[in-house]
Amino acid sequence: MDFYQHLNYSIGNEDWNVEAQALRVKPGDHVICVTASGDRPLHLLMTDCAAILSIDMNRIENHLLDLKLAAITHLDYETYLAFLGGTETPHRMAIFQQLKPHLSHPAARFWEDNKNMLEKGIIYQGKMERLTNITSCISQFCRNDKIQTLFSFTDLNEQREFVAKKWDSHVWRLLLSAILINPRISKLFITDPGLNSYTDYASNPGQYIYSRMLRYLNNHLANKSALLQLVFLGKILPSAYFPYLQFGGYTKIRRDPARLRYQTTNIIEFLHTQTAHEFNGFSLSDIASYMPQNIFERLLHGIEKSAHPGARFCLREFMSKRTIPPALQATFRREDVLEAHLEKEEVNFVYRFMVGTIQK
Ligand SMILES: C[S@@+](CC[C@H](N)C(=O)[O-])C[C@H]1O[C@@H](n2cnc3c(N)ncnc32)[C@H](O)[C@@H]1O
Repeated sequence: MDFYQHLNYSIGNEDWNVEAQALRVKPGDHVICVTASGDRPLHLLMTDCAAILSIDMNRIENHLLDLKLAAITHLDYETYLAFLGGTETPHRMAIFQQLKPHLSHPAARFWEDNKNMLEKGIIYQGKMERLTNITSCISQFCRNDKIQTLFSFTDLNEQREFVAKKWDSHVWRLLLSAILINPRISKLFITDPGLNSYTDYASNPGQYIYSRMLRYLNNHLANKSALLQLVFLGKILPSAYFPYLQFGGYTKIRRDPARLRYQTTNIIEFLHTQTAHEFNGFSLSDIASYMPQNIFERLLHGIEKSAHPGARFCLREFMSKRTIPPALQATFRREDVLEAHLEKEEVNFVYRFMVGTIQK
């Protein structure tokens, strides 16, 4: 599938604070996660777990993780942030030459062949990030003043009033839901199965995403949401930086990066090859939204097979509607109160959660 031949995710769009509450990682834990933009495995390095295995079916996402890991380990914070594209610098190619000896051969070769992406600042070069860059240009062309005002609020009540009176208009709702955030349009740009194929939860995906965005704006400040900033500003403000882009996170992550290994393979089949009691935590992002129900059940059986009794799982969904079959509900002990809390707290407002403990 063409989707797995491109860099699709490069900066991240999931809230680590929410993921950490779901996983409750303990010292000594072995955690398996999905790589995507690399934020998940990097954030897991901020915990006291003993080992992290990061898996992605797309080798390019793992090449990006390799690059980010080398940059965080071998560069000072300012150079690291500038190299990735958080701040400006004309020296990215020289910095890349510095990092190359620390990369795996396949990653070094890939980035050597794709230097143009590094030159522009890699965290904004994923297909998803380039798509949101387009939505931000069109949005700013239509209502730049309102967008700047929205991200200027530090008081939620003032923001709520602005959203009700100035932001949420019929024409804007139509423009967004019918065009800018409509997966039926975005598939012309990115063939993301999670965005285009498995949307059985939302009869009108554009309106569904708009309603979740509005709910978010009535409960949280816009300047805290990385996803909202990507869609309307085309970049993330420091106020919404993921921990791996912040100095504190950078410092924690580079303490002991040797705990992290990554692999390019299908995580479902990989889990079925594992021995029992292998993993204490499953941080699987929204891959549930990348497969039909029967494959999802095969994923659940793989988790069940490789989980340590008491292991934690965090499964996100975008617009899919997966269910844990009755035969597995005693094993996958979900926590609906926590799930509802995380769904409301997640600053990247599109996710629903299946969170809990594996009983074996
Ligand atoms: C689940 S999303 C993650 C997007 C996420 N919101 C982010 O930005 O980090 C997509 C990632 O999962 C990977 N993926 C999807 N299905 C997979 C599978 N069965 N095995 C391994 N990786 C998979 C895709 O290649 C992609 O990088």
